[in-house]
Parts: sequence; C-alpha cells; structure tokens
Amino acid sequence: MDGLNPMRAPTQATDRNFRALLGLFCFVAACSEPSAPVQPWRANSAALELLGEDAEARAGLERDLQALFGTAEAPLWPGEALGRAELAASTDGERRLARLREANAVRHARSLAAIDDFDWDEVRAREPSLQSAWRLLRDEAALSSLAPEDLRARAKELFLDWYPTLEDSARLYAAECFHCHGAEGGGDGPTAHFLKPRPRDVRLGVYKWTALASPARPRRDDLLRTLKEGVNGTSMPSFARLSETQLEGLVDYIRLLSVRGEVELRMAATFESDGEWEDEAARGELDAVLSRWDEARDKVLAYDGPVPPATSESIARGEALYNDATKGNCASCHGVDGRGDGPAAWKIGPDGARAPAYLDAWGDPILPRNLRLGIWRGGSRPIDLWRRIANGIPGGPMPALREAEDKDGARVVSDEEIWSLVHYVQSLERLGSP
Ligand code: HEC
Ligand code: HEC
Repeated sequence: MDGLNPMRAPTQATDRNFRALLGLFCFVAACSEPSAPVQPWRANSAALELLGEDAEARAGLERDLQALFGTAEAPLWPGEALGRAELAASTDGERRLARLREANAVRHARSLAAIDDFDWDEVRAREPSLQSAWRLLRDEAALSSLAPEDLRARAKELFLDWYPTLEDSARLYAAECFHCHGAEGGGDGPTAHFLKPRPRDVRLGVYKWTALASPARPRRDDLLRTLKEGVNGTSMPSFARLSETQLEGLVDYIRLLSVRGEVELRMAATFESDGEWEDEAARGELDAVLSRWDEARDKVLAYDGPVPPATSESIARGEALYNDATKGNCASCHGVDGRGDGPAAWKIGPDGARAPAYLDAWGDPILPRNLRLGIWRGGSRPIDLWRRIANGIPGGPMPALREAEDKDGARVVSDEEIWSLVHYVQSLERLGSP
C-alpha cells in the first residue's frame, strides 16, 4: 500500500520505476498525437463529369493542380504569405503572434520545463516539423559546441515560436477531420454518410457561418470561430481542445483545400466551354479565386449604433414583420408559429408525395429551421442572429433581408427593424417546441 500513501515520499527506486512506467505509458498512448495516414487527393467527380472521357484534359487537370498545390503528403500554398507570415502582416499581428506564443507555452509546457532543467531526454517535440527542427538544433549544438545556456535559449524559442507546416496540418486534418470532410474537403469522408446535415464540401468555397455580408469567402477569424465553437445542433464538433496554433494551422489547410477545389471546378468548367485544355489558364483561375478570398477582409457586416433592447413592443413589431409577406416574409418558410413548416418549404413531388421545395448548393434537400428549438448553428449571440437575418444563409434559400427592396428601390426592412426580428425569433424559442 506504500505507493498509495501520499504522505510518504517515494524511494528513489520506486520514483525511477514510476517515471519509466509513465514514460512507457506516454509513449504508447496519452502523450503521442493521434495519427492517421494522410490520404491521397482524388479528383472531384463533378469536375470529371465536365471533362468527360477526354484523357488529355484529365491528365492536364491532375498536372496543373499538382503544380499549384502539390500533393496531399507534400501540400503547397500557391498564394501570397500564409500562416505565421500572414498573421504577422495583419493589422493586429503582434497580438495574434503573442497569443500563439502563449498557446505554445501551454502546449509545450513539459518540454519547456525540461529545457529549463537541461534535461534534453525529456524534451518532447511532438509535431514532425518541431522534431526535425529540434534534431537540427541538437546536431548544431554538438558540432559547434554551443554553450548549454545558448542551446537552452534557442531551444525555448523553437518551442515558443512553433507554427505548423502544411504537412503538420495535413496530418492533424487526417486524424481529426478526414473521416467527416474527406481527403479533398469534399464532405465525403467515411463517417459522412451517417450524418445530417452532411459535413461541408469546401470545394465550392461556400461557407454559411461567417460575420460577412453577401456570400463571401470566410476570413481566418470566421474559420477559427467555427473550429473553436463547432456548429451547434450538427455533428461538427468543437476543437477547442487543440491549441490555438494547431487551429491556425488547420485554418491554413482548410483554405488550401477550398481554394484547390474551386480552381479544380473552374478549370473543368472552362474546358467544358472551350473544348481545349490550356495549362496557362490555371494561374488565371487561381488568381480569380484568391482575390475573392482577399475581398472577405472588407466585408464584415457590422451594426452601427446602439443595440435596441428586447421589449414587448419590439417583439410585437418583430412578429408583424415576420408574418408580413411584403416585409420579413419569414412565415412563408418558417411557418406562422416558427416550426419550419411554412408553405414555401414544401412542394408536391411527381409521385404526389410532399417533398422539400429547395435543394442547397450541394444538391441536398434543405428545410427551413424549426425556430422554436432555439438551436443556432451560426452562434447564439444577438449579433449572430442579426447577421443571419440581415445577410441570409449562403448555400441555401434563406434570402438576405438587407437586400430586399420595394419597387422604388427602398429597403423594406431597416437595420434597426432587423433587431425586432431577432427579438421575436428569440421569443419563439421561449415558447418551446411541442
Ligand atoms: C463528425 C463529423 C465532423 C468532423 C470530425 C469535423 N466536421 Fe467540420 N463539419 C461537419 C458538419 C456536419 C458540418 C456542416 C454544418 C452545417 O451544415 O452547418 C461541418 C462544417 C464545417 C465547416 C464549414 C463552416 C461554415 O461556415 O460553413 C468547416 C470549415 C469545417 N467543418 C472544418 C472542419 C475541420 C477543420 C475539422 C477537423 C479539425 C472538422 N471540420 C471536423 C462535420 C464534421
Ligand atoms: C426561402 C425560405 C426562407 C425564408 C423566407 C426565411 N428563411 Fe430562415 N431559414 C431558411 C432555411 C432553409 C434555414 C436553414 C439554413 C441552414 O441551416 O443552412 C433557415 C434558418 C434560419 C435561422 C437559423 C440560423 C442559425 O444560426 O441556425 C434563423 C434564425 C432564421 N432562419 C430566421 C429567419 C427570419 C427571421 C426570416 C425572415 C426575415 C427568415 N428566416 C426567412 C429558410 C428561409
């Protein structure tokens, strides 16, 4: 029972045994990263359909994509600065890099403590890029007889400044995301078939849960938020347990898959209309796609002015707008009592049975949400709901109320009135679902 008595200092031998055992345990399970082989990228079947049986075009597509984006095992980013360099160049770059250092200090706390103790054997560089950098530094130290203090200082910087390479992030994606989102981000991993809604196919560049106006490509912050919070009410989990640095790396990787997917589809569509394969066209398609991603930064949908409080008057005003077919027109889809069963949601199919009236951008049937459940996929802060209603939801039929105009070109619902709709929607949730 000695080992269980916390008041009794372990003898040196039991301590050593315990540490050896712990080391073995860490090696086998807890301290090793989840790992899964990186799957090769396959062609998008929608692109292949556009190319038909043309062997030259099929080979051309593969060649051009590989030249721009590398392979799944050795991915390349063909745009401007990505990742750490991009963060450093952003307006709040210093703050963001400082946050990554804090995150690295937590993630690598044990290794940093071991470095402090000059206990090199205990230093664990878990990510492959960090392993090789650490090995290089130790080789250099051995060769140039670097003073231990200098090795210590440089080793600490290595761990604190770590940022994943695209290969690191590809591995993490393979372990955490592939089974839902598929190797190319096509939303068709092995788990996807069991899920509703389906995991996002990012190859169209269409994202739903952003803070942006009009269907725009997401900013880093939009993707980061999705990864931290997950998508409530769907199988998209929160990855808040990963470090901020790992999440930024995943944002880089999702953007790479998304841009690659968009370029692939555009090149196939150009071939379909021109009937000829031109390698030179690839760069042009890429630039067009990248510029849409760059635009996103200036598209944040902000509300200027004080946010009106929810009162019984504003809820009543919201209810009127919700039901007025010339104003909010929400009831047509979401139903008078908010259960998502308005007349526009359904149609009578060819077989005479009721079927969803709308398909989404990916070709799946989509129904208006039951608002009485109070489950908000795009976030549950009032500003999140305001943005959903003002901007609509990309990829589906929900329209942008900000863009609704009467025949004289005047807006039918003002930004301020949209708050009444938010208040009414929130009040529906309080009514509950049955
Ligand atoms: C268990 C399945 C599952 C896993 C694992 C998963 N996702 Fe998702 N993901 C989903 C589903 C489902 C959606 C679609 C939610 C919706 O329709 O709103 C989604 C949506 C997304 C979106 C789109 C958000 C938007 O604004 O449209 C991104 C980006 C994303 N996931 C990234 C990731 C990344 C990166 C990982 C791995 C770290 C990951 N997902 C892991 C299921 C999953
Ligand atoms: C043409 C049909 C249509 C109309 C009109 C419509 N919606 Fe929707 N709405 C949808 C669909 C479809 C979804 C589910 C979208 C998804 O999950 O991708 C949705 C989802 C929502 C959500 C959930 C957002 C979230 O974060 O989960 C809210 C809130 C909402 N609608 C409010 C409204 C309000 C308020 C109006 C009127 C101003 C309105 N809708 C008009 C179809 C519609």
